[in-house]
Amino acid sequence: MLIMAVESSCDETAVAIVEDGRKVLVDKIASQADMHALYGGVVPEIASRKHVEVISQLAEEALREANVKRADLDAVAVTYAPGLIGAVLVGVNFAKSVAYALGIPLIPVHHVRGHIASNYIAFPELKPPFLALAISGGNTLIVDVRDYTDMKIIGATRDDAAGECFDKAARVLGLPYPGGAPMDALAKDGVAGTYDLPRAHVSGSEFDMSFSGLKTAVVNMAHNAQQVGKELDKASLALDFTNAVSDMLVPRTIAAAEKCGRTVIVAAGGVAANSIIRAHLQEACEKKRVTLYIPPLCLCGDNGAMIGCQGYYEYLAGKRAGTDLNACATLEIAEEYQV
Ligand code: KG4
Repeated sequence: MLIMAVESSCDETAVAIVEDGRKVLVDKIASQADMHALYGGVVPEIASRKHVEVISQLAEEALREANVKRADLDAVAVTYAPGLIGAVLVGVNFAKSVAYALGIPLIPVHHVRGHIASNYIAFPELKPPFLALAISGGNTLIVDVRDYTDMKIIGATRDDAAGECFDKAARVLGLPYPGGAPMDALAKDGVAGTYDLPRAHVSGSEFDMSFSGLKTAVVNMAHNAQQVGKELDKASLALDFTNAVSDMLVPRTIAAAEKCGRTVIVAAGGVAANSIIRAHLQEACEKKRVTLYIPPLCLCGDNGAMIGCQGYYEYLAGKRAGTDLNACATLEIAEEYQV
């Protein structure tokens, strides 16, 4: 079964052609990050306009490179939630047009389900059930993946997402947007324990997380240093910051897997590219004899292939949308699209 998959929830326009869920024929990504870097973060209106500019051409290129004709497509899968509403709408409307014009099914896909599915592409042997840690620019979730389309949230951030926190901390350290990768590189020269940063606990909710206090602590440190004319040891601050994020993510994920009786953990999303978090997850999983899957860096960030993969399993589960499909800025991963 050949699926064209469309992703436009933030600042990457992506179109992939995926066969039977796990075979990626082509995965085209047009990133707008350089444009948003001029403003220090994503400007939603610019994101929507850039998606409109490139999406049709990207789809044409995807078909050409995959050597697939329009008539060969069996379905179109699209991210319809969550994300920047104007940005998501561009992909949704494009996918609707393709489905309508070709008379093929339209499959709505939750963006974070897609991130988790990138592991199915990287690891052909992987099957649910497992415990997933989904960490990206807009979402931070611990999810019990009971089946391909049956998920339960075990823990979530109460405020900022982990990626958002990386981006804000990077900005005050003078690093370019998106800040996660530059922070990762900078942290390599740091000395751990130079700065004392908070680790938040959500009272009465052992698996929930909070990153806003950590973000504020870094922002305050940078501003205070500036006011008194003191030089910050940026590399050590980046390292201590990353260790603090990791301390909030890794033990909760391991404990959640134990609670849910899962012996397999998968990580997903842009922040799963972080070398320190990857190493800490690996170490913790080895200690507990839990199998860990983390996608290669090219599948951690937003891409179309993951939407085509999850779209296939949503299709098998009978999920279809009509031309009245709307985009949603927020939607829980466990919630089903209502026709
Ligand atoms: O998954 P993604 O591409 O987009 C969303 O769905 O949000 O994630 C983007 C986020 C950004 O916040 C970016 O700074 C972060 O992932 N990121 C990283 C790294 N690479 C990307 N964060 C920490 N370390 C990295 N190496």
